[in-house]
Formats: sequence, structure tokens, C-alpha cells
Amino acid sequence: MTESTPIIRAMRRSDLPQIEQITGDMWYAEYEPKVGAALSHIDVEHCLARATFARVAELNGEIVGFILASIPAHTTQVSKLRHTARMVGSALRLLADKAGRRGLDEFARIARVDDRLLRDAGPFDAEVVLFVLAPAARGHGLGKRMFGAVMEYFAANGIDEYFLFTDTTCDYTFYEHRGLERRGALPLETKPGDCYGSEPPTFFVYAGMTSHGPQAK
Ligand SMILES: CC(C)(COP(=O)(O)OP(=O)(O)OC[C@H]1O[C@@H](n2cnc3c(N)ncnc32)[C@H](O)[C@@H]1OP(=O)(O)O)[C@@H](O)C(=O)NCCC(=O)NCCS
Repeated sequence: MTESTPIIRAMRRSDLPQIEQITGDMWYAEYEPKVGAALSHIDVEHCLARATFARVAELNGEIVGFILASIPAHTTQVSKLRHTARMVGSALRLLADKAGRRGLDEFARIARVDDRLLRDAGPFDAEVVLFVLAPAARGHGLGKRMFGAVMEYFAANGIDEYFLFTDTTCDYTFYEHRGLERRGALPLETKPGDCYGSEPPTFFVYAGMTSHGPQAK
């Protein structure tokens, strides 16, 4: 008999190939497969470098979603260095070809936009870093459960307010539905060769309160 309700458990290193696949399918499918896979790896390692809470949803042995969150005061230098080293290793390999350099340049432009958004909206003591479910797992209440697990983690650690970055390539209205407030918006400066067609994405920073905070719903 198969289970139809995913379990939520702590992330393991052996989950990473499936996590990178879900991330790649969501945000890097328009790239050449080799470049898309490398960018997905860089993205996940970049997020893991600051994550202090990592949960996956597993159904019948398959990872069907994951969520990463961070309380920066709890990050360790060892973890930061380990994930940053893996990220830099992949980035150096991407520099060898033109499509790779274009992908890295876009990654750097997004990081600059996020920095500017946070400079104006912050500072915050906690962040929801990365949150994706595989398409078949969406729309059945799993996202709400996983987001709830992060809220419990924040509240248990005395966090009132947290932030997250999102953009128009994401289901960002999920956060509005959960009561988060938009604190800033900026367009991405696009360049020829970007994979966005005629509509460049807009990047957002949102803030929300945990049940620990004064305005929690
Ligand atoms: C966003 C995401 C994590 C939501 O997970 P989900 O399992 O589909 O959401 P749920 O089924 O748990 O929905 C919970 C509630 O949010 C609402 N909801 C779900 N997606 C929504 C959306 N895109 N906009 C507004 N509300 C949404 C549901 O109607 C439900 O409402 P209710 O609690 O009032 O009944 C998932 O759709 C996803 O992985 N999307 C792609 C990746 C992404 O965009 N990640 C987030 C931004 S970086």
C-alpha cells in the first residue's frame, strides 16, 4: 500500500540531487541542460550557506518539496564555508563557457537587486530562504504545512518578524494570502540572451509576523 500524505522531515545531504532537480525544473528549465543543472546547484548551495532550518516533504521515497529558512544569528562559519566552497567550485566551471557566463551574470544581477531591496526594507532577524514543491504536490495543503513548520521554528526561537525574497516567476501571491506585506519591488535589469522573453521579472521583498509577534493572525 502507498502513502498519499507526504511526511515532513529534516533534510539530508542525500536529498540534494532531487532538491536541485525540483529547483532546476522551476527556475532553470530554459537554460541548456548542463548550465541549468549547474545554476540550480549554485542556487541551492547559496541558500544552504545561510539556512539554519531545512525540511523536505517525502512521499513514497520521493522528495516532493522542500523549505529552507534562516536565523542568521544561528548560522555557523563551517556550514557557510562548506556550502560557499561548493558554490564557487560550480561557478568556476561555468565560467568556461559563454552560456554559463551569461547565467552567472544573471545570478549576480538578481543578488544585487535583492541586496538593494533588503537595504531599504530591513534589517530582519529571520528569513524564509527557498520554498518549492514539485508541481504534482501543489494545491493539496502541503505548502501550508511546510510554511507552518517554519513559523513554529521562528516562534520557538523568539522571532517576531521575518522576511523573504520572491518575484514574478514565483507563486508570490501565496505569501499575500498568508498575510505577508510587500515592503519593496524592483525590476531586474535585463540583458540580451536572458531567458525572460519580453516581460522581465520584478523582484519583491515581503515581511510577515510569526505567532510570536504582536500582529500575528
Ligand atoms: C507556493 C507553493 C509553495 C504553495 O504550496 P501549495 O501546497 O500549493 O499550497 P497549499 O495547497 O498549502 O495552499 C495553502 C493556502 O494557500 C492558498 N494558495 C496556494 N497557492 C496560492 C497562490 N499561488 N496564490 C494565492 N493563494 C494560494 C490556497 O488556496 C490555500 O488557501 P487556504 O489556506 O485559505 O485554504 C507551491 O505552489 C509552489 O511550490 N509553487 C512554486 C514555487 C514557488 O513559487 N515558491 C514560492 C515562491 S519563491
